[in-house]
Amino acid sequence: MSTPAERILAWLRSASTPLSGEDIAARLGISRAAVFKHVEALRARGYAIAAGPAQGYVLTATPDRVDATELGPHLTGAWRRIEWRETADPTQQLALALARDGAEEGTLVVAEAQTAGRGRLGRTWHSPSGKNLYCSIVLRPPLTPAGVPQLALVAGLAAARAIETIGLHPRIKWPNDVLLDGRKAVGIITEMEAELEQVRVVVLGIGVNVNVAVDDFPPDLRDRATSLALASGRRIDRVRFTAALIGALERDYRRFLDDGFRALRAEWEARSALAGCDVTARTPDGDVTGVVAGVEDDGALRLVDATGTVRRVVAGEVTLRAR
Ligand code: BTN
Repeated sequence: MSTPAERILAWLRSASTPLSGEDIAARLGISRAAVFKHVEALRARGYAIAAGPAQGYVLTATPDRVDATELGPHLTGAWRRIEWRETADPTQQLALALARDGAEEGTLVVAEAQTAGRGRLGRTWHSPSGKNLYCSIVLRPPLTPAGVPQLALVAGLAAARAIETIGLHPRIKWPNDVLLDGRKAVGIITEMEAELEQVRVVVLGIGVNVNVAVDDFPPDLRDRATSLALASGRRIDRVRFTAALIGALERDYRRFLDDGFRALRAEWEARSALAGCDVTARTPDGDVTGVVAGVEDDGALRLVDATGTVRRVVAGEVTLRAR
């Protein structure tokens, strides 16, 4: 059930002409003074609402914040629960705690900043405030633990699709880094709780560098990382981008559950950063070198080594080999 302030905001968003206090008061069955209080509360939350004498209220700007009030109206799928925090330490942890409390599939945790952003392989994820997207999604896929790494590939594809909606041409570096101009713009992590044969919950974490400038990155990241704004030369609307990402993810996730990764494989490969590249994959069982010949139906990377033998890599970190 939406609050009076949220209803006022929704009306202001859709109004093409100023809305009078009297009109709003009548719709809500409250006094004009009460309407004014709600408008003031919205202003305090960062909404710019103009009001001229006898002209009514006009929404002139919304806050740059990826919270439920801003993101909710842009979501089109079934995933609607949004838990927003100014800071989360990190969103992965909060999502996992919510999942343990029974949070349903599609619960989305978003933070403006993280003080302890988690990357893959024990790394940290640089998470400055108010510029990027840091989100974790609770998933309850009917998978065995061995199927979970494929989810990260699905998420990489969805992130690439969302980036394409702003006119950029991302590439996915197996398993799931999304690159722009050869630099990393998106990082994805999957963490799970499972029985031997059945996953209980997966927390899918996605970090997107949206509006950060070069100077916002720590020096050691400056030549390896980029942002949507740096690649496009313009500021990106974080709310709309997030909605595009969640929409793409929900659709790709459903296709994955219905038909497996094989249904998405061609679309994933069309965006591969490594097709035909000579690489070394650092795997838990040692290094594998070869030329990338695509991904398999289960998401494994297929390499052809110097002897012409096809090698499957199911987990690992891939680097280009100098020729
Ligand atoms: C990587 O190392 O590439 C994965 C980075 C994942 C970062 C995201 S940001 C939202 C979520 N919270 C975290 O602490 N990590 C993930």
